[in-house]
Amino acid sequence: MIRIDEKKGIFALYTKHTCMILKACDGFVGLAYYGEKIRFAETDYLCRTDVRPFTPDKLPGEGVSFHSAFPHVYPFYGCGNYRESAFRVEQADGSDTCCFKYIGCSTSKEKPKIPNLPQSFTRNCNTETLILYLHDAQAGVLAEIMYTLFQDSDVIAQDVKIQNQGQKPVMLRRAFSSCLHLEGDLELITLNGTWARERHVQREPVRYGVQSIGSLNGASSHTHNPFLAVVRPETTETSGEAWGMAFVYSGNFIACAEKDYQEKTQILMGIHPDTFCWELESGKSFYTPEVLLNYSPRGLGRFSRNYHDFIRNHIIRSKWQYQERPVLVNSWEAAYFDFDTDKLLHLADTALACGLDMLVLDDGWFGHRDDDTTSLGDWFVNEEKIPEGMEWLGEEIQRRNLKFGLWFEPEMISQDSELFRKHPEWAVQIPGRDMTLSRNQCVLDMTRPEVRNYLFRSMADIIHEADISYVKWDMNRQITEAYTPTLPPHRQKEFFHRYILGVYELQEQLLKTFPDLLLENCAGGGGRFDCGMLYYSPQIWCSDNTDACDRAEIQLGTSLCYPPSCMGAHISVCPNHTVGRNTDFMTRAHVALAGTFGYEMDLMRLTAKQVKQIQEQLKLYHQYSHLTREGRFYRLMQNKYWIAWQFVSTEHTETLVTVIQIRNQANQVRKHLKLQGLIPEGIYLFDGKRYTGGQLMKIGLPIAPMWGDGVSRLLHITMELSD
Ligand code: DGJ
Repeated sequence: MIRIDEKKGIFALYTKHTCMILKACDGFVGLAYYGEKIRFAETDYLCRTDVRPFTPDKLPGEGVSFHSAFPHVYPFYGCGNYRESAFRVEQADGSDTCCFKYIGCSTSKEKPKIPNLPQSFTRNCNTETLILYLHDAQAGVLAEIMYTLFQDSDVIAQDVKIQNQGQKPVMLRRAFSSCLHLEGDLELITLNGTWARERHVQREPVRYGVQSIGSLNGASSHTHNPFLAVVRPETTETSGEAWGMAFVYSGNFIACAEKDYQEKTQILMGIHPDTFCWELESGKSFYTPEVLLNYSPRGLGRFSRNYHDFIRNHIIRSKWQYQERPVLVNSWEAAYFDFDTDKLLHLADTALACGLDMLVLDDGWFGHRDDDTTSLGDWFVNEEKIPEGMEWLGEEIQRRNLKFGLWFEPEMISQDSELFRKHPEWAVQIPGRDMTLSRNQCVLDMTRPEVRNYLFRSMADIIHEADISYVKWDMNRQITEAYTPTLPPHRQKEFFHRYILGVYELQEQLLKTFPDLLLENCAGGGGRFDCGMLYYSPQIWCSDNTDACDRAEIQLGTSLCYPPSCMGAHISVCPNHTVGRNTDFMTRAHVALAGTFGYEMDLMRLTAKQVKQIQEQLKLYHQYSHLTREGRFYRLMQNKYWIAWQFVSTEHTETLVTVIQIRNQANQVRKHLKLQGLIPEGIYLFDGKRYTGGQLMKIGLPIAPMWGDGVSRLLHITMELSD
């Protein structure tokens, strides 16, 4: 609900449990409050402008102090705000000062579309959008700051539209998407890592100055995720305040917290300004990507569930979102580049015998690719390996009653490829400079329509010909020597944003052409795990690290923002190919069951015992995957010995608890694991015994000791239903 009091200059945005109060003061709009839902009466003192921070007295004409203290909803650069600004615009005279004045507002029941970008959608849900109009007459720039509220969620979507209403072009040097202002002691939580160690949680106090994370490599990156949370020092999983920003964007980003001399903290998120500048011609508009704002007064658990529900209901468009996904075997860790038709069909036969639904042919099926040095871009079958062709292979796989999935790395090109020989100019490069290789490959210039057309045609032909049900879209290197000959010199800094717009356009086109396609995004594991990608694919490969112990930690970190149902998770062999660790076969399944579930191993080498175990694992998947897809997720415990989590059905009548013993502790005391999300008075049945929900949550469920490292328990508990 949006309430506007024009006279008092108050804009109050209410979600189910939260409210955000914005106030117009002296021609500027500030954020007065964002937190738990409250009623308020007196409003004059909010965002007060008559107290000058540098001097105790009122000094009319003290603009500098004002701007560096006022909680601007969209802080601009140039007239006294020396904190990080959200907006900076260079005008025809070379100056880059802007002073956005509030000139009005409107509301809309229709969520305004953000052209060419992924964005939250409103399907089956009432929404209301507040649009604040901020204007700088000198620069001729109008900013429309949009906040969309969803009836079924506490998440607020924010984006900004910038319009050049002047006569001359301007250069947007910075156009962030969102800014919040908070008070009091805070801690910053970010998700950080590298390849095979993605999204590890860092929590640290917010200090004076700027703390920031971001990406400059062209993707949202393994290193930092485009997400942050800000919490009170006392905030836990179940109590305390938590605010968050999640970016619906997959390219270079920045997210930062800045604590100032007033001990106030501003939080900003947007496209990274170091690699961005946009020429905005007269009469044209620029749309920032969307940020998802979140607030929970009841700890990080509820905070995450707010995001999970929102992403499932308003970001992931795929028809697969709430459908049971086919259980696949992926050829990568099964065979890497070393396969031929016989091997693939053997794998298919074994997959079928085990009860699997789909064979995914990963890297190595095209051009003359036998290792990672060649053929990217040549999206036609490798006749050495599959002489009968893709159509034939597809038919053979489907004849076995299996679906067929295929790997592509569309954005890349190998120097040793037909495509490169024909179109060397399609590789991203700066004329006269060496191209820096990574994984022996170069990046295609996705800003060029002819590149996207080529990729669309080649991919669509194969998808059509071999009746492909699933595509894994990989992206295995970072961008260097960013440049495109299609833009003039002064517009080269548009490259990175235009690149990701090109990726989005191609994914959109594929999905429009093949609406039933199950798309899984991937970037050397989890290097592009973000809400932008989830708009196109209902799942993203979480990490190349499939070791159950490491994966449990990666998936738990990822769950801070993203729902488990979108995490690509497979069972692989031991010793694990990334870390060499041995874990129990069932533990690997218990971890994968918390994601999309599948296999990534040579099924032909299974022992009879393992085949039986696979059948057991599949039973578990079919029995419980509705909980992963639709249920609510609770992080129960994480220390060096144990990791535990829980899914609870929407009616609270069923719960699935996973406990992983990462490392055995000698002489451990018997543990009681406190559950969450149950009905306190409900009677829950487990192992032939009856427990109340209250006792399971306050005293806990007794967990029998486990022997060894990398072992686990999966506990299914149901509520006793009265007639
Ligand atoms: C990186 C991916 O994360 C892997 O799963 C696999 O597809 C390889 N690329 C193939 O090159």
